[in-house]
Amino acid sequence: MKKLFIKTYGCQMNAYDSARMADLLAAIGYAPADAAEDADMVILNTCHIREKAAEKVYSELGRIRRLKEAKAETGARMIVAVAGCVAQAEGREMIARQPAVDIVVGPQSYHRLPEMIARIARGTGHALETDFPAEDKFDALPEERSPRGACAFLTVQEGCDKFCTFCVVPYTRGAEFSRPVAQIEAEARRLVDGGVREITLLGQNVNAYRGAGADGESWGLARLIRHLAKIDGLARLRYTTSHPRDMSGDLIAAHGEIDKLMPYLHLPIQSGSDKVLAAMNRQHKAEDYLKLIERIRAARPGIALSSDFIVGFPGESDGDFEDTMAVVRQVGYAQAFSFKYSPRPGTPASTARQVPDDVKAARLQALQSLLAEQQRAFNESCAGRIVDVLFEKPGRKPGQAVGRSPYLQPVHADGAANLIGQIRRVRIDAALPNSLKATLCRTRVAESAAAR
Ligand code: SAH
Ligand code: SF4
Ligand code: F3S
Repeated sequence: MKKLFIKTYGCQMNAYDSARMADLLAAIGYAPADAAEDADMVILNTCHIREKAAEKVYSELGRIRRLKEAKAETGARMIVAVAGCVAQAEGREMIARQPAVDIVVGPQSYHRLPEMIARIARGTGHALETDFPAEDKFDALPEERSPRGACAFLTVQEGCDKFCTFCVVPYTRGAEFSRPVAQIEAEARRLVDGGVREITLLGQNVNAYRGAGADGESWGLARLIRHLAKIDGLARLRYTTSHPRDMSGDLIAAHGEIDKLMPYLHLPIQSGSDKVLAAMNRQHKAEDYLKLIERIRAARPGIALSSDFIVGFPGESDGDFEDTMAVVRQVGYAQAFSFKYSPRPGTPASTARQVPDDVKAARLQALQSLLAEQQRAFNESCAGRIVDVLFEKPGRKPGQAVGRSPYLQPVHADGAANLIGQIRRVRIDAALPNSLKATLCRTRVAESAAAR
């Protein structure tokens, strides 16, 4: 067997793609390696969302090049591939900048990897595939092979037609596309048969999902979730990432009606200022978002909310930033991600006058300390509560296992090492900075009630 090492950057959709690439290459004789040092093939599955993410790839490629050269001295060959969004955005330029790269493959073309590897093995120079192919990569991929553990991602929708003025995704991932219901259901059933208990449905705009159902109708995300929730043995469903504009009444209602749909929602607002939201082309106002949150909380009281924020978008004044802080105070997030605006080549906002970096840094710090305070408050509010945890992996200490609460918090418990892959009821003892500590309850959970 040859050895394959994949390093994944960026979002969960890249994590899903990496798992599928591993499945694909397992079919042609590549087994997973733990480190690039041991590998015959290295894939960097890259992210282009912010400058830092893209630059990390080049420094890693420098290191890989030295490994490749050391390997060549022993007469062995290492194939280096760059996949993902940097590959899509930069294409051939990557090979010019780092000649150790053999293969550049975009997120819609990686099903062609075996053929590209064969071309490289024949010694025909580099291989590049960054067109958006007409065929559906999902049809071309083999069934899942590598073990997924208790929790798995499942991409149901790809691409984005929204064109927020800061964002590269519509360019790197292409137009919105939804997989047919039957294809998704078959994949979900295989995952569950392989021991998966929790599935997170993925899409760049997952709630814009419009997939073909077997009845010939176009199904929305809520209908897909209701359908997948019927799979026996599947205990939990989540979905990410959603756009506020696509948060339908049906999807909101599903949060109140489907026990398996976990009480956690990542719904990015980006900014609390209507002026900035308009300049970002988000196509909604802060008030619309707050009304949505109210409806979601009415449907599913106690739901944990999360968001993404960008600070220092071009034109953001102190007052605009205060509007963002006000939204955060009003919503009260369980957790959130926040970033300094990073100008991305080819996006409309990148050519506008930029907010100075020290201003961005100060705003980010203020926002992050407010968000950290809210996260701590949320975690502390869980102390003393009884919740269900899906144990996923061993903890740091012997006998310990770590899992997730319904609200996606990491929870660790002693004496749970033999419970990996199972859902158990625990009592939360204490909130630590990034996780919760819990004790197993004696009663076993009826799994249909596991969500509540
Ligand atoms: N589809 C999702 C976002 C995917 S990108 C949505 O619409 O919400 C993940 C996050 O990265 C975004 O929500 C945004 O907060 C951040 N991001 C995207 N482009 C960025 C940029 N140019 N600079 C800083 N942060 C950015
Ligand atoms: Fe990017 Fe906006 Fe599309 Fe999200 S909705 S992926 S932020 S363009
Ligand atoms: Fe990054 Fe591409 Fe995901 S740019 S965030 S890997 S869609």
